[in-house]
Amino acid sequence: MDLFSAIDTEPVRQRMEQLAAELDRLNYEYYMNDRSLVSDQEFDRMMRELQDLEQQYPELASPLSPTKRVGGEVNKSFRSVEHRFPMLSLGNTYSIEEIEDFEARTRRILNSQFSILNSQFSYTCELKYDGVAIGLTYRHGKLVQAVTRGNGTTGDDITTNAKTIPTIPLQLRGDYPDDFEARGEVVYPFEAFEAMNRQREADGDEPFANPRNAASGSLKLQDSAECAKRKLLFCMYFMMAPDGVPLPQTHYGRLEYARQMGFKVQPYIQECKDINEIKAFIDHWDHARWNLPFGIDGIVIKVNQTPLWDRLGLTAKSPRWAIAYKFKAERVSTPLESISYQVGRTGVITPVANLRPVWLGGTTVRRATLVNADFIRKMDICLGDSLLIEKGGEIIPKVVGVDLEKRQPGAMPVQYVERCPECGTPLVRVEGEAGHYCPNCDGCHPQIIGRLEHFVSRKAMNIDSLGPERLELLYQAGLVHNVADLYDLRREQLIGLGSDATIQDRSADNLLEAINASKQVPFERVVFALGIRYVGEVGAKKLARYFGSMDALMDATVEELALVEDVGEVTARAVSEWFANPDHRALVHRLRQAGLQFVGQWQQASGRLEGMTLVVSGTFEHFSREEIKADIERHGGKVSGSISGKTTFLVAGDKMGPEKLKKAEKLGVRILSEAEYMDLVR
Ligand code: IVH
Repeated sequence: MDLFSAIDTEPVRQRMEQLAAELDRLNYEYYMNDRSLVSDQEFDRMMRELQDLEQQYPELASPLSPTKRVGGEVNKSFRSVEHRFPMLSLGNTYSIEEIEDFEARTRRILNSQFSILNSQFSYTCELKYDGVAIGLTYRHGKLVQAVTRGNGTTGDDITTNAKTIPTIPLQLRGDYPDDFEARGEVVYPFEAFEAMNRQREADGDEPFANPRNAASGSLKLQDSAECAKRKLLFCMYFMMAPDGVPLPQTHYGRLEYARQMGFKVQPYIQECKDINEIKAFIDHWDHARWNLPFGIDGIVIKVNQTPLWDRLGLTAKSPRWAIAYKFKAERVSTPLESISYQVGRTGVITPVANLRPVWLGGTTVRRATLVNADFIRKMDICLGDSLLIEKGGEIIPKVVGVDLEKRQPGAMPVQYVERCPECGTPLVRVEGEAGHYCPNCDGCHPQIIGRLEHFVSRKAMNIDSLGPERLELLYQAGLVHNVADLYDLRREQLIGLGSDATIQDRSADNLLEAINASKQVPFERVVFALGIRYVGEVGAKKLARYFGSMDALMDATVEELALVEDVGEVTARAVSEWFANPDHRALVHRLRQAGLQFVGQWQQASGRLEGMTLVVSGTFEHFSREEIKADIERHGGKVSGSISGKTTFLVAGDKMGPEKLKKAEKLGVRILSEAEYMDLVR
């Protein structure tokens, strides 16, 4: 940097530093002390000001800036890194007797081998957080790396995503060791988890099974801005440092020290003198755990005095100075009041137990799936039975058996329905498959509506102005029976539709426009939208890519279909049968007439990017990141993850990583906007 620009940017640098310090302080007060010192608007305003300055002066942006909390950098891949200190796991047990054994053994070794008196040591009991273990390396008070546990020896570098978690300090406060590693668990608090899952369902995404999976998935998100929205929590539980770096000599003291440095250390930790105090702690949390805002799956007991850790040593995989007690999955018994049979869009029947509402693991359970007829038979469920319901780490309650003590004499086994509960058609069961299904696909209401809903869903044709109620309305009005009918709708048919004439000019126009726009949806999503059994989003993509056009796909034989990666025998048969049905062929014909995409775009691409290497960064309006990469390849270009002398263009989307921009500018790589890119290839 020359002298003039150094002088020029000094006030900017000062302002950036001031903003960063203030945002850090506000974050700390908010997340550590539950104190809001300014309004959300004021906070956002300062954050934006800093973001803008960082965009303008990327060379002045700090890698630990509070803007990292908002995310925006894109993770190309998660580098595998070796742990400096292996991440051991703990011995664990479901049995209190084994906890008693652990305590007695520890005491015996300390008393007799090392002549340590009972008064000279104690235990700490703390929560066993149910999340994802990570290790954070700090040097000179700054976060330098965050790594997942992985196999204990190597893990994945998730630093960019970790920086978005507000309870992970980026810069430590007060006094701290110069070089150490903080370990803890990233958990997904229940409230945020449920809100996120509700959103996923509304968006047509598969909900996460439990908060642990969701936390783990979040840390592996490519888009760190998405990770920032997830509201994860870091619970610190362990600290270690290389030889020569002094740390407090008790575990309790280390956690207290960590709290002063700015870590969120949960207050539920207790020093226990003996087994009775340990057992009391376990008993308390076995019940109280459901009042916590996040999940725990047990209690961890550690010897408190850290110099004793070396003396007690390690077994093959885990330390002798600690153990985990795991809670048993909570189980209740509740009467089965009735069984409902739900009909899915492909006609598959799912039996569902309607239960007398019962409180279990923090929520009221009213229903649980009975999977299929085999499940009911294997569980030997009779009318009037009470069922045993469990909810372990999973959020979804599971039927695990029948409470035989409550069985009534002479109870009769459940008779599975023989006819469709919706349309009365006799159910069929395909050889080799567990489920029954209703074959009346064109006359069975939930199947018709279900297929329409699937067709318009976000990941299929994305006609978002058509919710379930509107589809029902169009169906009841006799306007839409199948997906092809959507493309024949006319304005005058729509106006005034609905019990209180809910569809008016404007919304009729919007609806027709959305339907029209869906004609541009790429071929692979059209294949998915058809709703062929077993053909999910990924399968549809593979089929579309392999065959390239609807014509080729329609006429493929079972053998040809089965050649596609990830398409098994069962799916291949389902696809072939679906297209063999004359009604379906007629439907496909009408969709073709309507102008839907029946050919893969990549078939028509140019060679305009031949010999060029492109790097993409940020988020785009017309493409997902995967789509723009595929688009580049279709036009003959190569996609690279990092900028180098060989890079021809950097395609810059919204919220591009400042590092990339800096590097591109340094190497003189030309930067293209999304629009410029599109001009180049189209
Ligand atoms: S201490 C060397 N404390 O449970 C001891 N672990 O198998 C390091 N965990 O992988 C672990 N809460 O991911 C410790 N309060 C806690 C914990 C905890 C959850 C996890 C951790 C570890 C596993 C034990």
